[in-house]
Amino acid sequence: MDFEQEYSALREKVEGALSRYFGEDKRGFRFDGLMEAMDYSLMAGGKRIRPVLVLEFCRACGGDVDAALPAACAVEMLHTYSLIHDDLPCMDDDDLRRGRPTNHKVFGECTAVLAGDALQAEAFGTVLRSSLPAERRAACAEALADAAGVDGICGGQFMDMDSETRILSEEEVTELQSRKTGSLLTAACRMGVLAAGGTEEQEDAAMRYGAFIGAAFQIRDDMLDELSTEAELGKPIGSDRAEGKTTFMTLYGAEKCAQMVARLTEGAKAAARALPDPEFLCRMADLLAGRRH
Ligand code: IPE
Ligand code: IPE
Ligand code: MG
Ligand code: MG
Ligand code: MG
Repeated sequence: MDFEQEYSALREKVEGALSRYFGEDKRGFRFDGLMEAMDYSLMAGGKRIRPVLVLEFCRACGGDVDAALPAACAVEMLHTYSLIHDDLPCMDDDDLRRGRPTNHKVFGECTAVLAGDALQAEAFGTVLRSSLPAERRAACAEALADAAGVDGICGGQFMDMDSETRILSEEEVTELQSRKTGSLLTAACRMGVLAAGGTEEQEDAAMRYGAFIGAAFQIRDDMLDELSTEAELGKPIGSDRAEGKTTFMTLYGAEKCAQMVARLTEGAKAAARALPDPEFLCRMADLLAGRRH
C-alpha cells in the first residue's frame, strides 16, 4: 500500500465533495454573505484528517466508501464550525487559521458566529440526508452529537476557558483535551465503522484508536503552538501562553510531551491491529505524531 497516495486520494474525494455544498452555485442571494463565510473556512484547506478517518474506517470494515462520503463531510463541517468559534475574540482571539485571516476578521463577528452555527446544523443535516440505511444514519448522527455537545467539544471548550484563570491538574487537562479534541476524532473513526455496518468489536477498536490519536493529537498541537512557526502552522504560535492556558507543555515541557505522544501512538497502533487491514491506520497514527502543522 502506498500510504501517501491513498491519503491524497481520500483527501481529494473529500475536497471534491465539500466544494459542492456551499459554493457560488448553491447560494440564494439573501444568504450569499452567510454561505460565502461558511465556504471560506470550509474550503481553506486543512488536513482533512477526520473525514479521511471516516472513509478509511469504513473501508477497513468492508463498507462502501462513497456511501460514507456525506458522513465524512459532516464531520469536517462540524470541525470547521468549532475552529471558527474557537478563533473568536471571546475565545482564543486568533487572527490566522489555515493560512488565512480568521472568519471573523474577514466577515465580522456576527457572521462568523452564524457561519459556525449553520455549519453545525448542516453537518447533522448532511448525515441525515445521506443514502446510508436509516439506522446507520441515525447511529452516525448520534455519534456526532455525542462529540459536539457537553460530553464533547462544548464541554471541553468550556473547561478550556477555565484553564485561562487557574492552573489545571494533569487529570483536568487530560479530560479537557479528550473532550475538546479527542471526542470528534473518536466520532470520526466510529462513524466510519457505523457507516459500514461494522461489528461491535470493530466499533470498540475504532473508539480506542480515536481516543489514543486524539490525546496524542492535542499534545502535539500544544507542542507546535510553542515550537513551530506561524508560516508552517498556518495559525498563530504562542497563542496558548498568551491566553495563560494550562497545557501539557506548561505542565511538563517538550521532552516529556514527545514521550507521551510516542506512547499514545503505540496505543493507537495496537488498537488498529484489531482490524483486518490496519496498515493505513498505523501509518496515519505515525504521521499525526510527527506532524509539523
Ligand atoms: C486543529 O485541528 C484544532 C485542534 C483540534 C487542535 P487540525 O490540526 O486538524 O486543523 P485543520 O483541519 O488541519 O486545519
Ligand atoms: C481547539 O483547541 C479545539 C477545538 C477547536 C474544539 P486549540 O484552541 O488548541 O486549537 P487551535 O490551536 O486554535 O487550532
Ligand atoms: Mg482553543
Ligand atoms: Mg485555538
Ligand atoms: Mg492549539
